Parts: sequence; C-alpha cells; structure tokens
Amino acid sequence: MAPRSLTARRATWSAPGRVNLIGEHTDYNDGLALPFAIPMCTTVHGVARDDAIVRVSSTGRDPIEFGTSTTPGEVFGWGAYVAGVVWAMSTAGHRVPGADLQITSEVPVGAGLSSSAALECAVTLALADLAALDLAAGEIVTIARRAENDFVGAPTGALDQTASMYGRAGHVVCFDARAMSCEAVPCDPEAEGLMLLVIDTGVGHRHAGGEYAQRRAGCADAAAQLGVRSLRALDVESLDRHLARLDVRHRPLVRHVVTENERVRRTVEHLRARRLREVGPLLTESHVSLRDDFAVSIPELDTAVDTALHAGALGARLTGGGFGGSVIALVPRERMDDVVQGVRVEYADRGFATPSFMPVAPSAGAGATSDPTRR
Ligand code: GLA
Repeated sequence: MAPRSLTARRATWSAPGRVNLIGEHTDYNDGLALPFAIPMCTTVHGVARDDAIVRVSSTGRDPIEFGTSTTPGEVFGWGAYVAGVVWAMSTAGHRVPGADLQITSEVPVGAGLSSSAALECAVTLALADLAALDLAAGEIVTIARRAENDFVGAPTGALDQTASMYGRAGHVVCFDARAMSCEAVPCDPEAEGLMLLVIDTGVGHRHAGGEYAQRRAGCADAAAQLGVRSLRALDVESLDRHLARLDVRHRPLVRHVVTENERVRRTVEHLRARRLREVGPLLTESHVSLRDDFAVSIPELDTAVDTALHAGALGARLTGGGFGGSVIALVPRERMDDVVQGVRVEYADRGFATPSFMPVAPSAGAGATSDPTRR
C-alpha cells in the first residue's frame, strides 16, 4: 500500500470493521473464510511529532501517552491496540515516528465486528504514512495481527485484519489462511432483492478470554493426534476415518472445522454463479455446527438465529468468535421488517439486552481519507 506522500507530516487513514459471511474458527487452522468489509470505519488522523512520544486521543476516552520504544505489558486497555502497532512496527525493523493520533470510530465495540482490527490497521497505515514507509497490505496485516496476539494477548488468527485491508465493495474476500492469499468474490445482495442484516445481541464478546484460546488449543491438539500440520489437511470425504482415531473430546471440534471449510467452498461456488439465495442454508448449517460441535454460541445468538429464520430469513449464523457479539442474517428485502420486529419482540419476552440492527453491504477496505490540510 503506497503512502500518499513521502514527506507527510499529517496523515488520515480509515480502516473498516468486518462481518464474516462464513468460515468461522477456520483461520487459525490454516482454513478458508469469507469475510467482507462493512461500511463502518475507524479513522486515525496522525500528526508527526519531533520527539519519541505517541499521544492518542479518542472521543469518550481518557487520552494516553507512551514512548515509541514501548514493549508488551506497558500499556493496557484500548491503548494497547495502538501501542501494540507501534511495538510490532518497531520489531519488524521500521522506525516509528512520535505522533499525535486522533481516533474516531463508527465500528461498535464488543459487537464482534472487529473494531480492534479496524483500529490496528488504521493506526498502522497512518504511522507508515508519517514515516514514509511503503508497506504492502500483507505486511500491514502481519503488523496488526502481531499487535493483537503478542501485545494485547488475544490469540486470534488473521481473518479480521485481512478483511479490513483487502475488503472490496460488492465483494467478499475469499481468505485462504494456509496460502495467506485473498481473492475477491462478487457478492451483490441487492441485485437479488436480498439484504445482509447484522443483529447485534448487545452481549459483549471477549477473545483474550479463555474459551477462544481453549478451542484453538483443542484444534492444535487434534492435529497433533492425527499427525497433520493443521486441520486443513483433512477433507470431508475421509472425515469419519479421522474422527475414529481421535479421542471423543476432540471429535466435534474437528468435525466443525472440516465441514466449515467445505461450506466455504460451496458458498464460493454459489456466489460465483450469482446464487446468493442458495447460501442461506449453508449459513444456518454453519451456525448449528458452531452451536453444537464447536460450542461457541450463547442463548442470545441462538434466539436471534432461530427468530430470524422463523420470520423469513433465508439463513443466519453467529459471526466472529462467538460467546456474544452479532448474528449475520440473509434476508429477502420484503421480510426485513418482520425479522427486525420478530427479534425485538422475542428478546424483550426473554428479558435479553436490547438488540441493534444494521443492514450492511460488502464495502471497500482500508484506505487514505482525503484531508485538505495534508501536504
Ligand atoms: C475472531 C478472531 C478471528 C477468527 C474468528 C473466528 O474474530 O479474531 O481471527 O478466529 O474469531 O472465526
């Protein structure tokens, strides 16, 4: 990604959140996923400083300040995502300038829409621009992910940062975590009279928490038991044979990952043939697998999925890591009101938190934001 100016003293960059259409808990198993960038972005306006201090301000939060030689364990909370980028850039051998960073974000926090990846990518882009570094998108993904994994301490894969960097309007990103490659696949719900609806359960999710790490470790154990480098080495045809060799505890995890990769492949086929409608049942199958086999759902997510389907959605599933966050539903335009109303009423009846609804279209990935004051 080329910086806009080699002498930038100011830089304004935006990076979007993401929804994962399908392909959940596959990225850290060298698998396949189909995320897309959403229209909501995080924007970082950076001004270079002449010292080695990074000062960060964001509406509604206390400003924070740290040195450009910050190391893990020195900054906590939301500032750790920013400090993590500074640290990851430095450890990759880049000189990071002191800077004042002003952050604004439209990506809801805790909704499973990757507000953290949006922040990391936007900060990396702004700092790279200020330092006149010409970083490739793949390198930015690596820096942003290192910030999250090794500074913040959340053991995630590269799905979220990849979607934020490689998103393209009217397309989903077919992400192959083994090859670390991306391909844009057309996805135009409107052309088929459909909508993609995010239903935010209002229950915050946590990745640094133990459950995500446990699932990840379980998958790694299963791969080791089977003598393969990762679960990507397994296919659906030979799944039963592999499952029989595993202890009972690991079987559901492996079944989910292997069948989920297959669902991604089938989704790509439908999308290429402009048959988005046919993707609906695959979304629902994915949810059932995440609920029953991978065990990362919660009643609020299940209720949103079941109610959306009952009210006319063609398919629905939890999106992101699970344990809270959001559902993505594929809904015929004329059934949108029924779905929204249905979920609202069901949540109220069950005494759940108030859900929010966001229709989303696959949107552009990270990029420079025009700023007339830039030199
Ligand atoms: C979170 C992580 C991703 C991915 C998903 C589950 O969003 O950040 O890397 O593992 O969960 O698919």
